[in-house]
Amino acid sequence: MRQAQTNHFYFMKKKHILPIIALLISIISCNNPKEETDSSLSVRRTELRNKIKIQLGEAYDQPIPTATKQQLERGRALFDQICAPCHGHRGDGEGVNNDALIYKPSDLSDQEQAHFFSEQARLYIIMNGIEGTAMMSWKNMLPDADLHSVYLYTRTLIKE
Ligand code: HEC
Repeated sequence: MRQAQTNHFYFMKKKHILPIIALLISIISCNNPKEETDSSLSVRRTELRNKIKIQLGEAYDQPIPTATKQQLERGRALFDQICAPCHGHRGDGEGVNNDALIYKPSDLSDQEQAHFFSEQARLYIIMNGIEGTAMMSWKNMLPDADLHSVYLYTRTLIKE
């Protein structure tokens, strides 16, 4: 019995170890979160949108009124300080903190991406964050009015 096991192991070693290692490496690199595929991102975004639709109900599609000048100024000051390190000053996702991040900060300036979520949903994301990513919840850090201003400022970053 012992002999059989040893033989079996020997056989594995000789013929299969290298392919098994190669397979493991490819599995590990496929799972490397830095390589998130477009399809995985799109599945996550769709799931998140569905979740927010349930949370917000009818409010999901309610437009958010035009910003005042003061709101935009406040929003810009806050954005440059607390959002730009990840999203970049233009909101294009080119912040300085990104290389180490598993899920990359969204390009807030991209029109198509911006309209994937409703206005209320984007505000909701700023308030509540996106679980499991670097996008944290800001609602306990700043007053609602400030977060509203930040949202209004991000809206001006969209390249129409
Ligand atoms: C530490 C990095 C980090 C900071 C700081 C940060 N974000 Fe994010 N943000 C992310 C990441 C990463 C994602 C994408 C997460 C994902 O892939 O699900 C994201 C996603 C978003 C989204 C979703 C947009 C979309 O269409 O995907 C919005 C809106 C957003 N951030 C706004 C903000 C605002 C406003 C601030 C400042 C108050 C901010 N973020 C600060 C990392 C950050």
